[in-house]
This record gives sequence, C-alpha cells and structure tokens, in this order.
Amino acid sequence: MDHISLPKAELHLHLEGSFEPELMFAIAQRNKIAIPYASAEAVRAAYRFSNLQDFLDIYYAGARVLIAEQDFYDLTYAYLKRVAADNVRHVEVFFDPQTHTERGVAFATVIGGISRALKDGEAGFGITSKLILCFLRHLPEADAFATFKQAEPYLDRIAGVGLDSSEKGHPPSKFARVFAAARDAGLKLVAHAGEEGPPEYIWEALDILKVDRIDHGNRSLEDPRLIARLVQEGMTLTVCPLSNLKLCVVNDLAQHPLKRMLELGLKATINSDDPAFFGGYVGDNFAAITDALTLSQADLITLTKNSFAGSFLSEGEKARHLAAVDAAASHAAL
Ligand code: ADE
Ligand code: ZN
Repeated sequence: MDHISLPKAELHLHLEGSFEPELMFAIAQRNKIAIPYASAEAVRAAYRFSNLQDFLDIYYAGARVLIAEQDFYDLTYAYLKRVAADNVRHVEVFFDPQTHTERGVAFATVIGGISRALKDGEAGFGITSKLILCFLRHLPEADAFATFKQAEPYLDRIAGVGLDSSEKGHPPSKFARVFAAARDAGLKLVAHAGEEGPPEYIWEALDILKVDRIDHGNRSLEDPRLIARLVQEGMTLTVCPLSNLKLCVVNDLAQHPLKRMLELGLKATINSDDPAFFGGYVGDNFAAITDALTLSQADLITLTKNSFAGSFLSEGEKARHLAAVDAAASHAAL
C-alpha cells in the first residue's frame, strides 16, 4: 500500500509557499511587475537555502507580485487542484496578511481571493478547509494586534491564528497578549516552534500561548520532559520532512526524527510547509520519508489518522474521515 490509497489532511501549508514559479511569472506579467529571473527554471535554480532566513528572504520577494483579489484566488485554487491528486480531503492553510498589507494590498483583497478559492475548491474537488491567519514574528506584537483588528470583520472565515517567520530571537512569549485576544475571540491557536528555535520555545507555545497544535516541533526531542508533556496531552505536531531537508534542519532524510516521534507516541503528521520552494507537495513528502525511513503500512495509517484527529474539524467529521482511512486501508490490504 502506498500513501495515495489513504485519504489525508494537510495541516501545515503556507499558501504563499505554494506559489509555483510558472504562476509567479504569469501573475507578474499581468501586474506588470519585473522579476529578477529569466525563467521559471532560473527561479527554481535559485531555491537553495542553508537556513530558514535564506528561504524567507526569497519567499517574501516572490509574494510581492500578488496584488489583486484574483491573484490570491489563483494561488489558492492551484494548490487545492494539485493536492486533490494526493487524495487530500481536508486542508488547514496559513496565510501571512502582513506580507501583503505592508505593501498596500488591502486585507479584504487577500482574504477575499483566498476564501473564494477555498469555496470553489470544496465544490470542485470536495476538499474542505480551515483558514489560519499567521502573525509574522519578526515584527512587533503591536503590528500583530493591528492585523488582528483588520481581521475582525472576517472572523467567521478564520478558524485560528498562527505564528511564523524568523524563529530565532522571536520567542512565542513576545506574542502572549495577541494570542490571548485571539483565544478570547474563540479562535484556535497554533505556533511554529522548535523548527530552528530551542525546546524552550515549545514550552512557551504550550504554557504561555496555550496552543492547540505545534508546527514542526522537531527540537522537542532534545527534552525528555517536553516529550512526556506532548505525549500526555496528545499534542499534534505538524512535521514537514522535505522542508526540514531543504532548510538544513536535518542533513539527510534518513536522519529525520519522524519515525522516532511515532515510536515515542507523539502525534506526528506529514505536511509540505512551502511545497513550491521545497521540492514537493504532501504526497511527495509521504513518498520521500516513507522511502528514507522505511515506514510501515501501520505507520502510514497512523500518520494519516493523526492528520484528521489533529485537525480542527468537529468530532463527527473526524470520525467520518477516520472511518474512511480504515476503509481505504482494509481495501488496500486485500
Ligand atoms: N513561513 C513560511 N514557511 C515557514 C517556516 N517553515 N518557518 C517559519 N516561517 C515560515
Ligand atoms: Zn511553516
């Protein structure tokens, strides 16, 4: 059985990170914005990173061509169309409004295009979705509050808030107040923690931000007390193998901690993070890590079940998806 036979959810995906060079060129052309590369191949050749910041510099530069509501629609719809082929049934996607509003693009334009595409994607591909607004952690908390204020009229379309961008030097505690405000507004909470930052940042995400999920969480393995806490709480980790390889969080996929996480009882899931930059969508991540770590059929079932169980779907919707995984697994085993 390979992963394609299993229905799955993706819980860690930055929409701006699904911006393929071909679409970037097409949108740049219609917006009459110059790109400092000759071709999509030349853009891809520039995607070599030695750490998170290397990547973020190029990622934010690429997002500059997104201006109109239709641009955000096209970006989002292309992602859904692509992952329908990976048997993805549900997605919980991040967007970074500050990357756009600081260039003068209205919040309404960004969320308008994204939410229209999510609706059409559900109608066209049967993929359900939740939208997560990420605050950029390299900016001050006051900027995050201003963004949260802009989001207020649209909270019916936003399931949660997250925390992304440059991790080192920007601990979760910097955003304690805005996360408390989001919690008071009834939103779910997630944060990138322990991708490059120390285990202490994961503790802060749990104890100070009170997150519902940890994005990445790789460095939790350095702290046995933290592992015990995460296992005891059944905390979902949204792990991103190809991202970890491309950003040098691991040197080799064969050394990736995913298998160990499962053995320890951590609720790990497989995700793509920024697929247009890291060489693969969620299905490619499943294929590469299955190969590198010789994951078993039982591991694949656990991983796909974790993706639904760790989602923000209702208990009834989770049960329906978990039953579909069991049905697909027993069918594939025949
Ligand atoms: N923004 C997009 N991808 C990210 C990642 N992997 N870590 C932090 N910020 C991000
Ligand atoms: Zn991420």
